[in-house]
Amino acid sequence: MSTVCGIFGCLSDTAPQAIFEGLKRLEYRGYDSVGIAVIRGKKVTVEKNKGRIAEFITSIDTAQIESDVGIGHTRWATHGAPCKENAHPFTDCTGTVAVVHNGVLENFMQLREELLKKGHKFSSNTDSEVIPHMIEEGLASGMSLKDSVVGAANSIKGSMGCVVISSREPDRIICLRRESPLVIGISKKGTFCASDIPALLPFTRKVMVMQDDTIAILKRGKIEIEDLCGHAIKPVFTVINWSQSVAEKGGYPHFMIKEIFEQPLAIKETLKIPLNFIDRAAGLMEGKVYLTGSGTSYHACMSASYQMAKRLGIDARPIHSSEFTDAVSELEGATVVAVSQSGETADTLSAIKYAKSKGAKILGITNTLGSSITIISNAYICTQSGPEIGVAATKTFLTQLTALDMLMLRIGLRRGKLSEEEYRTGRRQLNGLPKTVEEILGSSERIKSLAMKYFTRRDAFFLARGANVATAMEGALKLKEISYIHAEGYPAGESKHGPISLVEPGFLCIFVAPTDSARGRVIGNVMEMKARGAKIFSIITRGDSEMGQVSDDYFEIPQVADFLYPIISTVPLQLFAYNVAILKGLDPDKPRNLAKSVTVL
Ligand code: F6R
Repeated sequence: MSTVCGIFGCLSDTAPQAIFEGLKRLEYRGYDSVGIAVIRGKKVTVEKNKGRIAEFITSIDTAQIESDVGIGHTRWATHGAPCKENAHPFTDCTGTVAVVHNGVLENFMQLREELLKKGHKFSSNTDSEVIPHMIEEGLASGMSLKDSVVGAANSIKGSMGCVVISSREPDRIICLRRESPLVIGISKKGTFCASDIPALLPFTRKVMVMQDDTIAILKRGKIEIEDLCGHAIKPVFTVINWSQSVAEKGGYPHFMIKEIFEQPLAIKETLKIPLNFIDRAAGLMEGKVYLTGSGTSYHACMSASYQMAKRLGIDARPIHSSEFTDAVSELEGATVVAVSQSGETADTLSAIKYAKSKGAKILGITNTLGSSITIISNAYICTQSGPEIGVAATKTFLTQLTALDMLMLRIGLRRGKLSEEEYRTGRRQLNGLPKTVEEILGSSERIKSLAMKYFTRRDAFFLARGANVATAMEGALKLKEISYIHAEGYPAGESKHGPISLVEPGFLCIFVAPTDSARGRVIGNVMEMKARGAKIFSIITRGDSEMGQVSDDYFEIPQVADFLYPIISTVPLQLFAYNVAILKGLDPDKPRNLAKSVTVL
């Protein structure tokens, strides 16, 4: 199961070399296993292993995989550990079909059960492995390879970027796209497909992005496209003139903005995490509860602690990981929720090792399967953001909050704090998140114009109340780390206890002030700042004219349930920080003095 792995397939004179070259072009994302399948005689030959492409190539006998048709895959594990067995490609029982797959199959358990009953043998614990066996069923009933792939697609629920070869029809590659990207291309060098444009660029600049629920039949010198009902679709190619580095960023100028725009998909995939994972995690939550993390991940902890207290009556204390050993001693029977996108942050690992040694159970929430946190924790939830390259955490923060909300809903139900009806409503509201975030991203130009107005400021306060305080702190962290503007995020009600003395005419105060239960009290804090000449820029719920009137500038977000505001309010703040950094001529992907993963204490 994987959402953003690398796929490459080709019909070309030296297919394996082309496959390795293509996969290397995708490797900047940081994959953990690799595999290749080629057609040789009446069988397909598969080589795969854990690790990076360079080591892989030196570890295999390339003479044994020489061929003019093949497919390859680099995996970034999300479910099913990063190991040889779980690496793609997967084959059927006859060894004549090989498949690489990106995406998440929602009904794979049921399909696997059915296939097991029919005598199929499985060798991995991935969802993807059901696909070659389903194709095998189709072929056994006399269908063509293409029809067998369509037949499998019709029974599968979930997302698929899927590429298939079979020694029964060795002149072709079948590609299927549903909600997981695939691009195809053709040139004198051969016919190619990949999960992302950069992989195709050494071979062709004439590419076509496949549409959802379409099939491509690749042959030497020929590409046919059909919908799932077999109607032909005319291929429309685009000539790509991007450089390699722009191509890696999918046409965006920076990884950070690409990753901000990937948030709807990252949330959507995270919402597909199977309930049994969430329930195993929820079952761990007994005794005292602590939440720990660093930086952005600490903000996710803070947000969750507010929500746990407010919605579920659970007193869950958030503690910076670097402070943990000094802040807590009684941990027997407690649960420590450790949040870390990388799963390798030294401060967080040190906190959970300490907690474990004192008798606590650890629940990890990470974006990196196979990371240290998944090994140390008693249970873990793996968010489905895909690799995050930009140093500033963006999509991983939103998916951490999403996963924590999914967890809270389950805990609420288990502990009788939420009725079945309230649980279902909560899930429905969560399921609406990708669309809402997409809507906000659609107004990104408005944030650009606000960034123009304020990018020369030297200081900024980010203020809010309740769970949105964590969002305000996250907004301040984003701005300071990539634009080097001094920014502080703290509870709006604290201003009068000191910070307000800094405010003079023109001082920028950014309020996160959606219409939740705290909104009425935030107005008072806005007025205090205005009275000292501060410039007020607020994130407000659409149609909140009162808040709009007291603000110098505002950005409207859609109305959602209160518990979702911390998530959606973050998006304009990320966009603001990004645009300010750009206007200041800074590289948001590589802020000074910072590293993506902080592995020192
Ligand atoms: C901020 C940022 C850092 C990380 C922090 C923890 O944009 O990325 O503050 O959030 O270093 O990293 P993880 O989540 O990997 O433990």
